[in-house]
Amino acid sequence: MSTGHDENVIWHPHAVTRTDREKQHGHRGVVLWFTGLSGSGKSTVAGALESALYPLGISTYLLDGDNVRHGLCRDLSFSDGDRKENIRRVGEVAKLMVDAGLVVLSAFISPHRAERQMVRELVGEGRFIEVFVDTPLAICEARDPKGLYKKARAGELRNFTGIDAAYEVPEQAEVHLDGEQLVTKLIAQLLDVLRGNDIINS
Ligand code: ADX
Repeated sequence: MSTGHDENVIWHPHAVTRTDREKQHGHRGVVLWFTGLSGSGKSTVAGALESALYPLGISTYLLDGDNVRHGLCRDLSFSDGDRKENIRRVGEVAKLMVDAGLVVLSAFISPHRAERQMVRELVGEGRFIEVFVDTPLAICEARDPKGLYKKARAGELRNFTGIDAAYEVPEQAEVHLDGEQLVTKLIAQLLDVLRGNDIINS
C-alpha cells in the first residue's frame, strides 16, 4: 500500500485560503473534541450545542462515532489498533473541516490519550478544544441507551470500553463537563467556552 508520502506526491497550494473561508463564515475553524465513555452524553451534548449554534449563524458539522462507523470507518472493529485507525481517520477529516472554516463537533469515545494527542497535534494547538464528558461508569451503565453494557456484562460483547477495555481519563482537557448535569447547563458552559475562543460574540 502506498503511503502517499513519496516524492511524486506534491502538496498543491490553492488560491482561496482558510483565512478567506473563515472571513466568509464570520468565525474561525476549530474542533470541539468530545471524549468520554459510551452513554456519557457526548452525542447528546454535541447535538444540542449544534442546535444552539445554528440560529447564531455558526457553520458547524457534527462527526459522530456511531454514524461514522456506518461509512468511513465501517471496516474497523473495536480492537486497540482499529480504534487508533478510527481516530486517525476522523482526525484527518476534522482537520480538513477546520481548514474549511467549520466549527467541528466530534463525538468519539477516543479512549486513549495518545490518539487524542495525535489529533491535537494534527489539527494544531489553539484549534483543538478537548471536551471531557465526565460521567461515572455506573451512570452510563444505568442509562445503557443501546443495551450494550448489558451485553458486555453478559460476555456477549468483548473489548467494551469501561468494562474490559480501558478508558484513559484526559489530563489536559480544555473543558470538563459534569455529565450528570442538565444538558441546558452544559450548553451554557460550552457557549461560554466558544465566547472565550472568539467563535461567538453574542
Ligand atoms: S472509539 O473507541 O473508536 O472512539 P467510537 O466512538 O467510534 O469508539 O464508537 C463507540 C460506539 O460504538 C459506542 O457508543 C457504542 O454504541 C458502539 N460500540 C460497539 N461496540 C463497542 C465496544 N466494544 N466498545 C465501545 N463502544 C462500542
